[in-house]
Order: sequence, then C-alpha cells, then structure tokens
Amino acid sequence: MWLDEKSFVVLVSGRGSNLQALIEATKLGFISGSLSLVISDTPGAYALKRAEKESIPTCLLDYQTFSGKKEYETSLLSVLEQVNPSLICLAGYMRMVGRTIVSRFRYRILNIHPSLLPSFPGLEAQRQAVEYGVKVSGCTVHLVDEGMDTGPIIGQAAVPVHDSDTVESLSERILEQEHRVYPEAVRLFLGNKLEIMGRMVKIKE
Ligand code: GRF
Repeated sequence: MWLDEKSFVVLVSGRGSNLQALIEATKLGFISGSLSLVISDTPGAYALKRAEKESIPTCLLDYQTFSGKKEYETSLLSVLEQVNPSLICLAGYMRMVGRTIVSRFRYRILNIHPSLLPSFPGLEAQRQAVEYGVKVSGCTVHLVDEGMDTGPIIGQAAVPVHDSDTVESLSERILEQEHRVYPEAVRLFLGNKLEIMGRMVKIKE
C-alpha cells in the first residue's frame, strides 16, 4: 500500500449491495483508495459475508450487546479512531450516527438515501414516495450532519415512478442508480474533487 493512499471504512446493517458496488469500484481502480474495514451493528448481516469473501477486515459491534446508544457509540468511535480513515461510508446502516462521531469526523461521513432529498427522509423512503404519488424519485448521496438525512448533497439520480409500481419495483429501480451514484461520490471525495461551501458541494474541475 502506498503511504499516501487513502482509506475508507463502510458501516452496514444488512444486505450490503451498496457495499458490493463500492468493493467492485475499488477493485477496478475506479475508486482510488483502499477499503480498510467493514463495520456492522448487526450479527449475520449479509454485508459481512460479502466483505469476508473479498478478504476485507470486518468488525461486528452488535448493538444488542451494548447497554445503550452511548456505550455503542463510544466503542464505534474508538474503532474509527484507531483506523482513522479518510472517509466513512454509511451503506444501509440503519442508525443515525451520534453527534460526537459526526463532529469528530465532520464532512468525512457519506450516506446513500433512496429518495431525492429533501423529499422523504428517514425510514422507508421508497414507500413514502409510492404513497405520496410522486412521478419521479431517486437516490441521494450526501454528507452526514447532525440531522436526519439533512447534510449537504453530493450527487443525485432520478428515476420515474410508474402507476404500476410497488415499493419493491421502485426500490429495485432506485437501487440500480444507487450502485452507480455512490461509487462516483466516493471516487470524487477520495480524489479531492469536492469543494464544500456551506450547503453547497461543488465538483472541482
Ligand atoms: C439502500 O436502499 C440504501 O439507500 C438505504 O438502505 C438500502 C441498503 O441496501 N440506506 P444495501 O444494504 O446496500 O443492499
């Protein structure tokens, strides 16, 4: 590994298809950096298997074994501080990152959300979109701040919502875009191509 090579860690809770997209993009050299650790808050998350298959180190911090959020986040912070990655990617990580970690890693945490923010933040974004009756939805990669899916936006992709769509069919269409948009955002971030000015994130030429 080159001394100046950047590293990133990925936080997961479940299936890990976005993790897989980041793994593939790294293997192809599209992302220049190394994926140094995958952290899961859930035992048995399929994402852990994906990482193991690729010989990427994993760390399980089983949320249920902690006495509460504070203790869990203290352990998470200590793992993150030991690794000290350039970037932390949330990929299907089903918890809000606490204030201490957000401020310790300010503007170094990314999240992917399955809606066109600021519409439909929070859980079940695809269901919210279908039930609201929007004609267009999509996904958003953003920097994580203290709010729920409120941080500065790096990239978005739109998809149509058809009359015949179910939550599942819309989720599938959005997911395809997630797998394209997230690696691109990580590539830009690790390549120092992003300029953050308040809420605005500009891509440097
Ligand atoms: C994705 O839809 C992501 O946008 C959301 O949770 C889902 C995770 O999917 N935050 P996966 O675990 O990456 O397959």
